Amino acid sequence: MSDHPLRESVDIITAFDRFDDHWSPMTIASMNDYHVKLVKVLGEFVWHRHDDTDELFLVVKGELAIEMEDRDAAILGVNELYVVPKGVLHRPVAESEAWVLLIEPSTVVNTGDGEASDLTTEAVWLDQ
Ligand code: NI
Repeated sequence: MSDHPLRESVDIITAFDRFDDHWSPMTIASMNDYHVKLVKVLGEFVWHRHDDTDELFLVVKGELAIEMEDRDAAILGVNELYVVPKGVLHRPVAESEAWVLLIEPSTVVNTGDGEASDLTTEAVWLDQ
């Protein structure tokens, strides 16, 4: 399902409790052409970039480092938000499990615009 108007409010913590996979984003809401996704992360993701869009990260639990080309890493704790500008090569890293909310266009591929990898996956709607 590409579009899924929200009929009820979403408790983010409860939603995170309903899936376990790492690096596998779950969509919980849409807003115009954007999706709000939840993702659990652990370890190092792949270096990638999104040529046409910024990408918003908000940490809900744990700590996330967003390493980037040509600039200092963004180190995000709980309730901290960062927007990776479009075109910037980046790699999210979490030494222990972190829970992250993402806002990005519905068409974004998690591993960016280059070649697919083992971690490439399509976000799916989390059943409410
Ligand atoms: Ni990205």
